[in-house]
Amino acid sequence: MTATKNTQVFGTDAAGIKGAAAVLRAGGLVAFPTETVYGLGADACDGRAVAGVYAAKGRPTFNPLIAHVADLNQALALAEFDDRARALATAFWPGPLTMVLPRKPGSGLSDLVTAGLDTVALRVPSHPVAQALLVAFGGPVAAPSANPSGRVSPTRADHVLAGLSGHIDGVVDGGACAVGVESTIIGLSDTPTLLRPGGVPVEAIEACLGAPLSRDTTPQKVQAPGQLASHYAPQAMVRLNRDTRDPAALWLGFGPACAGAERNLSPAGDLHEAAANLFTYLRDMDELAAQGQIIDIAPIPAHGLGLAINDRLARAAAPRR
Ligand code: TXA
Ligand code: MG
Repeated sequence: MTATKNTQVFGTDAAGIKGAAAVLRAGGLVAFPTETVYGLGADACDGRAVAGVYAAKGRPTFNPLIAHVADLNQALALAEFDDRARALATAFWPGPLTMVLPRKPGSGLSDLVTAGLDTVALRVPSHPVAQALLVAFGGPVAAPSANPSGRVSPTRADHVLAGLSGHIDGVVDGGACAVGVESTIIGLSDTPTLLRPGGVPVEAIEACLGAPLSRDTTPQKVQAPGQLASHYAPQAMVRLNRDTRDPAALWLGFGPACAGAERNLSPAGDLHEAAANLFTYLRDMDELAAQGQIIDIAPIPAHGLGLAINDRLARAAAPRR
């Protein structure tokens, strides 16, 4: 697709937020920071605007998007909350949790947001810029990650511009995202189910619910980009669980044992720091890689945020479509 739009960069001051909200109101596309990754926002009640999100990302099919709202009150207008949903909202909103809930009829949400499903994915982000934009706009904002479909998610405004400049109307530059991996998605329309590991550790959600979650992050069930095998992919080939250096490859380390790695997600072995660095370092490694050179990645512990990190890395290493 040819780049035809003049992509404005907005600041995070009152004028910037006002400008970005005006773009949303006019049916335009504006990327904005959340605590997880940058989202590509559109008015969730405007089908034409939402269709523009799919076009700009080159999403191959209409997969459901997350509707972002400023607070629980706005969320209550869009979906049915049972006791479990209320408990999770109280514990983790605002924050990196998305809940898939039964959709309320007549809420005005475009069917393109939910891809025609009778459920809707809702999230209240905690990032002050996302909050300010949602309050200024005053309604639900549909926002997938602000990257071309299948590529690494953006955690800085320049990542957004590298992928989508000329295809979107603007981006609010709020600096780097603190969490660095997308929200945890929990399905609550039936048995509580983990649909995507993310910024809230699964252990914390299970502790809040007082019961283990069903696991269903298989690609067959929901054919959405975040659940397809090859996703979050750098250009170079990726090999996982490499605890020693291969001189022919580049090495993305984790922890103190990875001396000499080109990048280290967290030299101290801290999973929060590793999540925050993940997508930026995958981009860096891709830039450093010579033609045909492989990116090796050190083992990452499979607890807490490590679950989300390993999920994204497994997809980055999966055979390409
Ligand atoms: O952290 C995040 O969640 C970021 C920021 C921007 O909020 N957003 C994000 O959106 O990651 P996206 O579109 O890349 O991923 C949304 C995922 C899709 O993979 C889809 O599977 C799931 O949400 N989803 C949305 N609605 C759903 C529904 N009704 N049922 C099941 N899954 C749904
Ligand atoms: Mg995404």
